[in-house]
Amino acid sequence: MPAGLRARLDLQAVLDAAVEAVILIDENGIIETFNRSAERLFGWQADEVLGKNVSVLMEGADRAGHDGYIKRFLNTGEAKIIGIGREVPARRRDGSVFPAMLAVGEVQQSSPRRFVGFLHDITLRRQAEEAARQSEARLNHFARLSTMGEMAAGLAHEINQPLTAIATFSQAATRMLSRPEGIEREDLSEALDQITAQALRAGEVIRRLRAFVKNREVRHERADCRRVVEDSRLLLEADARSNNVQLRLRVADSLPPITADPVQLQQVLINLVRNAIDASVDVPSAHREVILSANLDGDGMVEVAVADHGHGLSTEAAERLFHPFFTTKPGGTGLGLVISSSIIRAHNGRLAYRSTPGGGCTFFFTLPPLGVLPGVESH
Ligand SMILES: Nc1ncnc2c1ncn2[C@@H]1O[C@H](COP(=O)(O)OP(=O)(O)OP(=O)(O)O)[C@@H](O)[C@H]1O
Ligand SMILES: [Mg+2]
Repeated sequence: MPAGLRARLDLQAVLDAAVEAVILIDENGIIETFNRSAERLFGWQADEVLGKNVSVLMEGADRAGHDGYIKRFLNTGEAKIIGIGREVPARRRDGSVFPAMLAVGEVQQSSPRRFVGFLHDITLRRQAEEAARQSEARLNHFARLSTMGEMAAGLAHEINQPLTAIATFSQAATRMLSRPEGIEREDLSEALDQITAQALRAGEVIRRLRAFVKNREVRHERADCRRVVEDSRLLLEADARSNNVQLRLRVADSLPPITADPVQLQQVLINLVRNAIDASVDVPSAHREVILSANLDGDGMVEVAVADHGHGLSTEAAERLFHPFFTTKPGGTGLGLVISSSIIRAHNGRLAYRSTPGGGCTFFFTLPPLGVLPGVESH
């Protein structure tokens, strides 16, 4: 057998054994080689497509634009896909479309120039990704429902307390009005102030819960930690200033991006910094400093922390911190940390605290950088 023919047959055998679809085209996009995997994948027999323009296998913008892509590459060397590889929609003989990963290279030392494409179907991978996304969304939903379950019990109590107080103060006010000796203006005004404060407090509990339940599904978008931290600082500056607290930023350079809902992360930071400010108002002014930082931790996770030098936690507070409605503040709802930790859980992260060296509390959360799923080992 002549050596040339032998080499061609060997090449055909190799191509036909390949798992990937292999398609060779000339500089006009005309199909010259179509291996067995390509036949299986696209439903065309090789002899039906040899001599046809490769755009019959394409879909969408690529189908119309492909001749132009090749011309531009030949004229300018500007590659849209050659040497890069990307995901493309591909079209079977029956018109159905599937997602494919395509890598294209130029055949070296060929004149006229020719190109070879390697392609495989990634439908299963897409389906697996979609299933993972859906199960994550379901988990987030359950995480939120279970938090709501915990909250519902406390909620009845939380609303009942101010209602009882309102009833008591208004009964007292009524009694004052019917006193034969006349009304003590101060007593009456005190009772009315209490009624207002209690009603506002109940309203605040309801407002926060409603905002939490109504929360749109957590968005997963590429986010920049520095941006989130800086935007939160803008929202918090006035609050810090009016409480005579210094708010400082320490963000590491070149942090990796994360997948997050920036608005929700801001909500968490606002809760944490407000708590830090509250804990700082009764310490000497030299200690009234809150530091907002973002760093990479030892495990490669992005850590965002809010450190204060405030009064720290009592033993009771340390035990009940994350219980719905636990608060040591007259106007507090005790929901800030519960909501924050639920948001961080929905981001596959963790919210925790430690003591600040030199006194005070540091609340921090860690989030996986973009593309890293916690608990999944990379091979
Ligand atoms: N940085 C901190 N330093 C000291 N104690 C804190 C700190 N952060 C939280 N706490 C304690 O934890 C409690 C619960 O905090 P959480 O944010 O859940 O509710 P809250 O701040 O009391 O109310 P709200 O957030 O509705 O204003 C606080 O009342 C406080 O006692
Ligand atoms: Mg709070």
